[in-house]
Order: sequence, then structure tokens, then C-alpha cells
Amino acid sequence: MGLLATRRILLGLGGGIAAYKAPELVRRLRDAGAEVRVVMSAAAARFVSKLSLEVVSGFPVGDDLWSTDDARIVHTDLARDSDLVILAPATADLIGKIRHGLADDLLTTTVMAAKTPVLVCPAMNTEMLDNPLVQDNIAHLRSLARYTFLEPGVGLLACGITGPGRQPDPPEIIEAAAAVLADKDLRGLAAIVSAGPTREPIDPVRFIGNHSTGTMGFAIARALAARGATVTLVAGPVSLRTPVGVARRVDVETADEMLAALTELWPSTDFLAMTAAVADYRPAQRSQEKIKKTDASGDSAMPPTLALARTPDILKTLAARPDRSRVMLLGFAAETHDVIDYAKAKLVDKDLDAILANRVGVPESGFGPGDNIGTLVFRDGTFVEFARAPKELFADALVAALAPRLTHLARRSAHA
Ligand code: PMT
Repeated sequence: MGLLATRRILLGLGGGIAAYKAPELVRRLRDAGAEVRVVMSAAAARFVSKLSLEVVSGFPVGDDLWSTDDARIVHTDLARDSDLVILAPATADLIGKIRHGLADDLLTTTVMAAKTPVLVCPAMNTEMLDNPLVQDNIAHLRSLARYTFLEPGVGLLACGITGPGRQPDPPEIIEAAAAVLADKDLRGLAAIVSAGPTREPIDPVRFIGNHSTGTMGFAIARALAARGATVTLVAGPVSLRTPVGVARRVDVETADEMLAALTELWPSTDFLAMTAAVADYRPAQRSQEKIKKTDASGDSAMPPTLALARTPDILKTLAARPDRSRVMLLGFAAETHDVIDYAKAKLVDKDLDAILANRVGVPESGFGPGDNIGTLVFRDGTFVEFARAPKELFADALVAALAPRLTHLARRSAHA
């Protein structure tokens, strides 16, 4: 089941060039499990064909308030039969009309009649976006609980300018939609997720690293934020976009830097999920210059011997703090064999509250952007097994399994 399983989404298209991306968005929403109906303005119909949208959505597409062609496309029915309205692209005109309560076509009357949350994805030329009238309209709608805005991306726009105004890609819109619909049972929880590898420099060119891509940690950060937690992501060197809803991202490179970042964040933390694959060793000495393959005379040099030193054990260091019992510590154990036994030993050794025993070194689980398999073991010996799933869904299932304990922490923080 996808992130939006069984949800009924009404996708409204304003008349902007980004409307041409709508068929792909519809397809991705359906892949995520949603049923999608589309309503478009007359101007949107100039940028994308109604037929394409009918084919990808599997439903008739509404574009005419006065049409009697299809009795099913009635604005009040469309509004009532959806869990969420997504406006993408939300043009300056569409945002302005909604802000001022204007409803003169099928799209605006549908939004007017809807009682569901509305996810607004502004997409327009940078100068239009910067216009104080548009900003005022956005600020007003933002102040109303019903409307959630997804920040437009920065990029090359159709007008040839590079700047803010680009419609975010479908995965970002889907994340935001799932977050709008999720229960906010973790509101008040201050969570940190560490993700990705660390890099321990040998010289300015080379480093010791590992295969972690950060995918698992970023997905957990997204899942926690979707349920209302205030999430700080401490990320090693990865090339991933910060998930929708994550409050803050701190980028680090080495184990020492990760420890420093987590130590600074610790006093205001309720929960730490340590998915990062922290290097256990670093070069004892870092060369300030590139180590050459040849010696001074130009002959091949002997391969250097790399002396290694231990990096700090971050979880152990944090668990030794006097206020440790205030924070729930979740470790991850990446193992190639005897996964659960090693994980249980690490849970005790590092004084954790729970650990995710994670099989690595096999194609169906572990490192990379694909799937994961694991067993969550709690300190009291209870455990939850997770079948193979894409990491986004794995993260949702993991956070759901942790939720009873996390909601308790969230309530404690709310009353503090
Ligand atoms: O990033 P992806 O490509 O999505 O891959 C995800 C993952 C496989 C990296 C992730 O799911 C995972 O298993 N992370 C744990 C990796 C790891 O370092 O495991 P470990 O068994 O070596 O360490 C046990 C725990 O101690 C981990 O929580 C680790 O963050 C922590 N640790 C390790 C070393 C160290 N010096 N300090 C630590 O705190």
C-alpha cells in the first residue's frame, strides 16, 4: 500500500505552464494508492489535454461549470467526495480568486464548496510570485487552517528566468499530501534523525566511507514530520532533498562533526533515531596534502600504510549523559549475519531503548534507495518484524510501531 492508499484526491489545475506536468503527477498519485479526479480551468486546458488526464486518472475530467455532457461532474459532488484538494499549479490568478472568495468556474466553485484540506502548490514566474498582492494573498490563505502551502522550487522557469516559482516535482507533492492527511499524534515531539554515512578524510582527495545513501534516515525524518513531530535531520554527505515538513537540516561530514551536532541538539530532544552509518575508524592522521603515488625522484612510491584510530561511539557517548533517561534512543544495527543476536548485544552495550536489526549486504535490504527488511527490538524484549518494503513505507511502518511510546513523550513535552 502506498503513502496515500485509498485516499480520494481532487487535483485542480490552474492555467500555468506547469499544468503540462499534471499527467505525471496523476500517475504518481495513483501509484501511491490514491484515487484521483481532475478539475481544470479553461486556461489550464490550453497547456494540457483533457484526454490525457482522463486516460491517466481513469475518470472524466471537469473543465466546464455549465457543461451538461456528464452529470457526474458537479462541483458540490466533487468537493464532497474528496479527502484532499491539491492545487497544482496554483497560479497567481487562482490563489487570488480563492483568497477573495471568487468562484466563477468549475475549479473555483469546487474549491469553494470543499470542506477538505487544500494543498496549494504555487507555480508562476518569479516576478509574479514576488508581487506584494500575490504574497499578501498567500499569507492570508496560510493563516487559515484549511490551506497548506508547498514552497515553490527554485529553477529555470518557462519565462527563461532562474528563480523561485517552479512547481515541485511529484514526489515532493505526494509527500506534502500525505503529511496533510496524516494524524498529528506526534505534535510536540522534538525528534532528531541522523542519516547517511560519515566520511573520514585521508587527505584532501580521499576518504574512508561506506555505502549508506541516507534514504532510510530521510524517510524516517519525513514520516515523523508528517505525524507532527518537530524534526531535525543531521545528515552525512548525501545527495538527497530535505523531506517535506522537516524543520531543520544540519549537514556534517565526519563522526566527530556528527557527535558535535547531536550534542548541541541533545538538550531539546525527546527522541533520537540513529540511522547514520557512522564510520568506526578514521585515519589516525589526516594528510594536509594529497598523498602521491610517486616519490620525490618520480619513482613509484611504496603504497602507504594507513594507521587507523577509533571514531567516537556517538550513541554510547550520548547514552552516558546524566539526563539520558529523558531521551528515547533508537539505534540501528547493520549486520550481514546473526542480525538479531548482534542487534540485541548492541542494544545492551549502547544502553538503547530500541534497536532496528537491519540485514545488509543483500540486494533486498540494507543500503541504497530500494527496499528494507528489519526487526525492531525493544529493551523489554518485545519485537516487531517488518516485511520487505520500499523504504518510504518501511519508515511509515516503523514510526507507527514506535508511535505509542513516542506519543507519550510528545504529551510529556507538551505539558513541560
Ligand atoms: O542510508 P541507506 O542507504 O538508506 O542505508 C540504511 C542503513 C543500512 C545505513 C541503515 O538502515 C542502518 O542500518 N544504519 C546503521 C548503520 C550502522 O552504523 O550500524 P552499526 O551496527 O555499525 O552501528 C550500530 C549503531 O551505533 C547505529 O545506530 C550507529 O548509528 C551507531 N554508531 C555506530 C558507530 C559509531 N561510531 N557511533 C555510533 O553511534
